[in-house]
Amino acid sequence: MTTAALVPAAGKGERLGAGTPKALREVGGIPLLVHAVRALAASRVIDLIVVAAPVDFVDEVRGLLGELDVTCDIEVLAGGESRQESVARALIALPSEVDIVLVHDAARALTPPELIASVVASVAAGHAAVVPGLAVADTLKQVNTASDVVATPDRASLRAVQTPQGFARAVLQSAHAGVDPSDPIATDDAGLVERDGVTVHVIPGHEEAFKVTRPIDLILAEAVLAKRRASGNVS
Ligand code: C5P
Repeated sequence: MTTAALVPAAGKGERLGAGTPKALREVGGIPLLVHAVRALAASRVIDLIVVAAPVDFVDEVRGLLGELDVTCDIEVLAGGESRQESVARALIALPSEVDIVLVHDAARALTPPELIASVVASVAAGHAAVVPGLAVADTLKQVNTASDVVATPDRASLRAVQTPQGFARAVLQSAHAGVDPSDPIATDDAGLVERDGVTVHVIPGHEEAFKVTRPIDLILAEAVLAKRRASGNVS
């Protein structure tokens, strides 16, 4: 089996504050994207990584990733206006022999390699679509446009899902083929696949696979990395 990981990394990161694109923001002196790519390579289950980079930073990203000492192939192309479009562009670049595809946010920089390997193993075992998920700590409310609560879903049945999300290639490809990349309708790839009636299987996620979105997430990421470095577990 040949496995590829698509890495949408073209976001501006506006919720982190203005400046450098999010994937190039540093934690422990290393860009988030480099952490994410190293973790994918360290999982030892990925043959090819395709990165969708911010359109004005394609050469810079190529340079950064070209310096890495990893065994898998890395390709860099320009991402799109939305995450969905960035994934669609990376998907088109896949060679024909790839049969398992992971989609992994660059922003989930500190995802443990073991979680990446678990997602691939679950797809290889026969699940057409696999997402890591965690139980939610907060009670979630559904609200209307006036911010009035219209429903309180049972928390026990909810999961906060992460990446990498793993798919049989044909399933992901047909889900993306059925939608207009310039008119994004889903915030994750499993959401697209669900529209096609495919069952998405949830496996246990990992707390350290959180998405760096807000300034406080950078503080948390620095702390996680410091803990890993202190214990000699550096990716
Ligand atoms: O916006 P959000 O933080 O949810 O983005 C999740 C991932 O999608 C990030 O890694 C981001 O770089 C990527 N993205 C992208 N292209 C966009 C917007 C977001 O590749 N146009």
